[in-house]
Amino acid sequence: MCKVYAVASQKGGVTKTTTVLNLATALALMGKKVLAIDTDPQGSLTVCAGVKNPDALTYTTYSLLTAVMNEDDLPEPGEYIASCEKIDVIPCNITLTAFELNRGHEIGAERAIGTVIEPLKELYDVIILDCGPSLGILTVGAIAASDGVLITVTPQLLSAIGLKLLIKTIQKVRRHINPAVNIEGVLMTMCDTRTNLYKEVSEIMETTYSGAIRIFSTVIPQSTKVGEANLRRQSVVLYDENSKPAQAYKDFAKELMANE
Ligand SMILES: Nc1ncnc2c1ncn2[C@@H]1O[C@H](COP(=O)(O)OP(=O)(O)OP(=O)(O)O)[C@@H](O)[C@H]1O
Ligand SMILES: [Mg+2]
Repeated sequence: MCKVYAVASQKGGVTKTTTVLNLATALALMGKKVLAIDTDPQGSLTVCAGVKNPDALTYTTYSLLTAVMNEDDLPEPGEYIASCEKIDVIPCNITLTAFELNRGHEIGAERAIGTVIEPLKELYDVIILDCGPSLGILTVGAIAASDGVLITVTPQLLSAIGLKLLIKTIQKVRRHINPAVNIEGVLMTMCDTRTNLYKEVSEIMETTYSGAIRIFSTVIPQSTKVGEANLRRQSVVLYDENSKPAQAYKDFAKELMANE
């Protein structure tokens, strides 16, 4: 049974893309067949996963969504899925912006990504969608196509503040589009656990959400290794497998799968 996750938060820079790449790679190291899908027009996952020449690609998330909206046949997966180190990726680039602008209001737009994913479920154990920092049609579509939403929260920039709106959006998607989607949990990332800021934010998270939402016990530490890995178009899990963030992402992958 394939499990589909969306990593979402309308807040920018809260490590969504880093989490998708490293969780996907960590799961692959556990023997899972993993596909990551870039649904953010910024195309950061595409770049960080090492896809070459993202602006020159024939097939992207955009072309697949457009094919679904036009009711055209989809190409064979082998034509549009890029093989990266340990994981497969459906890449995108800035053209994806046009989907939101031109097709976002059409009937079925929020279900298009689900239609793209459906035939791929028999090919993968896990599919993870990277969302952009918005709650627009692409994020709503990604949530609607998922079994579980993973929310990343960093102690910086008060990233917990927008959480209520995100949770409301997920609940709306559950009511109107996909009754089976759950909030899988909140992952605290980019944390320096020694600081008062971390202690305060994790306490706020516990008191506000404990009981209602799962807060993963794994915490991803802040580390310059992550930036170094990004620069090399690699996951930190492979770039420096013994580093603290690499170990934490491997622990997180195990924690997530422990429920399955
Ligand atoms: N554990 C970490 N320690 C230090 N820096 C990190 C860590 N995780 C991510 N970063 C850095 O934080 C920045 C933002 O990360 P990332 O791009 O993954 O966030 P995002 O939520 O996907 O952003 P956006 O909303 O723009 O898509 C990047 O420069 C990344 O290298
Ligand atoms: Mg991102």
